[in-house]
Amino acid sequence: FYAKEDYFEKAKQFHAEYMPSKDILNYALNKIERLDLELIAPQHGSIIQKPYIGDLISKMKNLDCGLYIDKKYNRELIDIIDELRHKDKALKEKEAILFQKAKMAEMGEMIANIAHQWRQPLSIINTIVAIAKEKNALSLMNKDELEKKLGEIEKNIVYMSHTIEDFMTFFRPNKEKGRFLISEAVKSAVKITFASTDKHNMEVDIEGDGRAGIDGYINEYVQVIVSVIFNAKDILLERKTPSPRITIRYFSEKGQSILEIEDNAGGIEEKYMQRIFEPYFTTKHRSMGTGLGLYIAKMIIENSMDGELSVKNTALGAKFRIGVKSGTDK
Ligand SMILES: Nc1ncnc2c1ncn2[C@@H]1O[C@H](COP(=O)(O)OP(=O)(O)O)[C@@H](O)[C@H]1O
Ligand SMILES: [Mg+2]
Repeated sequence: FYAKEDYFEKAKQFHAEYMPSKDILNYALNKIERLDLELIAPQHGSIIQKPYIGDLISKMKNLDCGLYIDKKYNRELIDIIDELRHKDKALKEKEAILFQKAKMAEMGEMIANIAHQWRQPLSIINTIVAIAKEKNALSLMNKDELEKKLGEIEKNIVYMSHTIEDFMTFFRPNKEKGRFLISEAVKSAVKITFASTDKHNMEVDIEGDGRAGIDGYINEYVQVIVSVIFNAKDILLERKTPSPRITIRYFSEKGQSILEIEDNAGGIEEKYMQRIFEPYFTTKHRSMGTGLGLYIAKMIIENSMDGELSVKNTALGAKFRIGVKSGTDK
């Protein structure tokens, strides 16, 4: 009924098999050890009196139990756990690289857009400087006029530096998380893609509820919109759609902030419908498409933002729908 010196030997097997791990057993033993106990009356086994408690606890602490019973099994299991941890980390790293790669793929087009947006102010500045030089050489330039010309130059430089800032914000990975308005994100995305759509006389219509907001990374969200707009632009161009148009709508619905982007290019071919979100799926020439745009877009919305990205064909064309839980109101 009462435990003796040899009690550890008797209780050993039960504990080795019953306790899930040495760490867990030790956690409990450390707590018990600190108490000034008269006796322990366990649910299973004998009653342990004060003189035996200390010795029993220190022996139990060294007992191999649970995961530690079978050294080989244990090693394998620990190796598997390590390997899984490692794989998870590698996967996350790969994902981050892929994110950046997709952005870079669209970088070429971005640079063309910056160049396009800079062309006009640059040529204005150029003209102002040429005229000022000419007038100055003929001593026709007075102070007021110089002041005015310098002001014009300054205005154009400010515009140029704003353009570059828009692009820089977009390329900086993971700006801090926070609440943003869909309208802000749409504005950035439309600015970034403007040169591409404008060049081909595509109309971009925006209608939305200015209060719709989201908690998350704005530049990742912008990236999604940019990818969808670029795809719409590509297909409108490829199919030579008359009166090409991209319509962007956003609103709140049942606790969600919804963004819809629809084009009038005739839609996604039915046979591709199931595949467009696959990585590396593209119907474009190798030099034009990476097939990563929509895959990354889906990852951003569904993994990183816990939302939903879907598509369907309408009477006009493809309509992408992004739904994310509405952000907390400010
Ligand atoms: N608005 C759209 N209308 C029709 N097809 C589309 C549209 N957007 C995407 N697609 C199809 O989905 C494919 C995958 O798009 P994406 O993942 O962005 O890769 P990529 O643009 O590099 O081809 C495109 O190649 C195209 O065939
Ligand atoms: Mg694309």
